[in-house]
Amino acid sequence: MPAFARFAAAARSLAPRVAVVLGSGMGGVATAFREHATIPFGDVPGLAPPTVSGHGGRLAVGAWDAVPVLVSFGRLHFYEGHPWDVVCGLVRVAAGLGVTAFVQTHAVGGIHPALGPGGLMAVARHLTLFGPAAWRTPAPAAPYSPRLLKVLTDYEAAAGRGLLAGTYAALTGPCYETPAEIRALKAMGADAVGMSTAREAECAAALGLEAAAVSCVTNHAAGIGGDPLDHAEVIRNAKLAADRLAALLGALVAAV
Ligand code: HPA
Repeated sequence: MPAFARFAAAARSLAPRVAVVLGSGMGGVATAFREHATIPFGDVPGLAPPTVSGHGGRLAVGAWDAVPVLVSFGRLHFYEGHPWDVVCGLVRVAAGLGVTAFVQTHAVGGIHPALGPGGLMAVARHLTLFGPAAWRTPAPAAPYSPRLLKVLTDYEAAAGRGLLAGTYAALTGPCYETPAEIRALKAMGADAVGMSTAREAECAAALGLEAAAVSCVTNHAAGIGGDPLDHAEVIRNAKLAADRLAALLGALVAAV
């Protein structure tokens, strides 16, 4: 049996209702995840092998605490040269395996004053002004599920912490922004900036899935912290909020 047929059979027998995408350097967040089967992106029809260090590039099915979950260790990015169809292939594969919710995590640069390295933000809305258009038809106006957003903010409130429900600016990368671009994004209402997630959330909503996203702040956005940005720092700092993110994701998958 080809690798994907075997993986799909394992997924169908577990019947996960939720997919969780773990972004740059966040694979370690899945401590509560017991893996049953896994497959590299390159063996999944519609996906492609990843090209960025720090991104695992494989799918797995298993149990997150007691909840069956499809986990993607890494994702594909537009800046790797993949067309939007392939970037969003993960959403279609997850939907094909029967999930009803698509949850994403990613690294961001913090623009909002409360968002420094180690901080988290729930994505309530996004800007996709700067990339080439992904769709010919209008994208879903509000792809993020208000219900799942409330699960996230309620969980953090119950733990005595605030969680900003903010605006995520999705740029195509791969280079980080200039300080002038960050000032412009701030004026447009962006709280955090990253290079993924938005098109996938739109695709998920268009397919009728509940979409949610949690941003993990790895650095102050360009010109805000003073320090120049580099990819190694982003990967290192992605681990700062690991415990808090793990707990939050556990609550979210249990609520789907
Ligand atoms: N900009 C864009 N993407 C990012 C950043 C950033 O500052 N940090 C992590 N991903």
